[in-house]
Amino acid sequence: MVFYTIESLRNKKISIFDTTLRDGEQTPGVSLTFDEKLLIARQLDKLGVDIIEAGFPMSSEGEKASVRKIVDAGLNLKVCGLARVIKSDIDTCLDCGVDMVHTFVSTSDVQRISTIKKSRDEVYSMAIDAVEYIKDHGAKCMFSAMDATRTDADYLINIYKGVESAHCDIINVPDTVGVIVPSAMYKLIGEIAKNVKIPIDVHCHNDFGLAVANSLSAVEAGASQVQVTVNGLGERAGNADLAETVMGLHALYGAKTNIKTKYIVETSHLVERLTEVRMPPTMPIVGDNAFAHESGIHTHGVLVRSDTFEPGVMTPEMVGHKRRIVLGKHAGKHAVKQSLEFAGLQPDDEQLNEIMKRIKDIGDKGKRVTDADLYSIAESIMGNISKSEQAIVLKEVSVMTGNIITPTATVKAIVNGQERLGAHIGVGPVDAALNTVTSILGEYKFKLRDFRIEAISGGSDALAEVLIGVEDEKGRIVSARATNEDIVMASVEALVAAINQLMRKR
Ligand code: KIV
Ligand code: ZN
Repeated sequence: MVFYTIESLRNKKISIFDTTLRDGEQTPGVSLTFDEKLLIARQLDKLGVDIIEAGFPMSSEGEKASVRKIVDAGLNLKVCGLARVIKSDIDTCLDCGVDMVHTFVSTSDVQRISTIKKSRDEVYSMAIDAVEYIKDHGAKCMFSAMDATRTDADYLINIYKGVESAHCDIINVPDTVGVIVPSAMYKLIGEIAKNVKIPIDVHCHNDFGLAVANSLSAVEAGASQVQVTVNGLGERAGNADLAETVMGLHALYGAKTNIKTKYIVETSHLVERLTEVRMPPTMPIVGDNAFAHESGIHTHGVLVRSDTFEPGVMTPEMVGHKRRIVLGKHAGKHAVKQSLEFAGLQPDDEQLNEIMKRIKDIGDKGKRVTDADLYSIAESIMGNISKSEQAIVLKEVSVMTGNIITPTATVKAIVNGQERLGAHIGVGPVDAALNTVTSILGEYKFKLRDFRIEAISGGSDALAEVLIGVEDEKGRIVSARATNEDIVMASVEALVAAINQLMRKR
C-alpha cells in the first residue's frame, strides 16, 4: 500500500550515487584509512549502490592510491573520482582508472567572484574544455555546476546546455549550501529538464534539514539519479541520507533502485563504527528507536498489528532492523506481561498491577527501566525466581592500570556452577574488565549494544551508574544497570546482570 503517491514515479528506476567516501569523508573530524575505505566500498557494493565517488585523487597521494585500490577491487558498482575543471586533476582521476570523472566548477556569482575569481565566460569555457578533455580520454563524464541553486538560472541552463553539446553523460545539480526548498527544487529541475536531455543527478546538502526532501522533489521533477551518503555524512550538516532517500523512493513513491534494503542498517552500523560519528537513537530508519515502542497505546497496537503504529510500507525486516518494545514509565500492561512471559514468568493480575506500579515509580524518577530492573521487581513481587538461577555469579574483579602498563583485568566468576578465572587487556580499565568477562564466557556470544556511564553525584567520589545493553546471536537485546563508587565494578556488574537476563530469556 502506498499513500498519496506520485504515480509517474511508480516503478521508475532511480540510480543511487553514493559519495560517503568523498563528501562523507569531508565531515569535520572524519578521516578513514585505506582499509576502512575499501571495507565501506565493499559494503556499498553488497548494498547494491550503482556508483560511488571514491575520492578526490588530486587532493593527496594517499587519496589517489585509495581510489586506485577501490578501482582494482573488482566491485560490481561503478567507481567515480572527483576533479576540478583542471587538466591535472582530470589526469590524476584518469590515472586511477575510474569509470567516470565528476568534474565541477563554481557557477554562482558569490563563489565565482570570491573564490576562483573568473568571469562567467571563463567558467563556461573551462567547463566545456574539461568535459571535452574527459570525453576525449574515453571516460564517462559528470559535470557539476557547484552552488547551482544560487546560480543565475539563465546562465546555469546555458552552461548545462553547453556541456551537453560537449557530450557530457550526466549533469549534477548541487545544492551546495543546502538553501533550496522542495517546491523550488521541483521548479528548477523541471526547467533544466526542459532544456537538457541527458540524465540529471542531484546533490543536496542538509543545512536546513531538507536534503532528503529536496532530493525527492528533484526526482519528482525528472532527476534520475540522487547523490547520498551513509548516515547523511558530509560537509557541515551533511548530505542527503542514503537510507531515508532510498526508503522514501521505495516505500512512499513505489520507485525502484538496485538497493538491497535489508543491508541498510548493517551498512549504517559499519560506517558509524569506522567514522565514529554516532547516530542519534531517533535517526529515521537506522536509529535504535526507529522501530521501538514504549507507550502503552502504541505497544498494545503493534503487538496486535504492527502497522497500527508503524508506517507499514516500511517494516524493520525490510531494512535489516528489529522491532523493540521498551519498558519505561509509558509502558503498558501488555508489553510488560509479554516481556515477563518471554522470560518464562507468569504474574497473576494482582502481581502484574504491583509490577506496573513499581515500573512507573522508576520512570517518574527520570530513570530508564532496564530488563534487569523488571526481573528484579518481578522477583521480589512474585518471590519465585531464585538467585541460584543466575548463570554467572561474580566473585572477584581486579584491574591494573597506569601510564606504564597496559590496562589488564582479572576476573573470577562461577559460570553455570563452575569456577572460571580469566585475564585480558583493554584500552582502559573498563575495557579490560569487560573484555575479561567476555573471554571467560567464551561459549556465549553477545555484542555490546549500548554503554553509558553517568555520575549520580558530583565530585571524585561520585557514584557511577552504568547502563549496558547486550545482544545475543539471535538478536535478543537486554539492558541492565549497576551503581557503584568504582566505575569498573559498576561496568562489570551491569554487564553480568545483562548477560544473566539474556540467559534467562534463553
Ligand atoms: O556540495 C557540492 O557542491 C559538492 C560538489 C563537488 C558537487 O560537493
Ligand atoms: Zn557536497
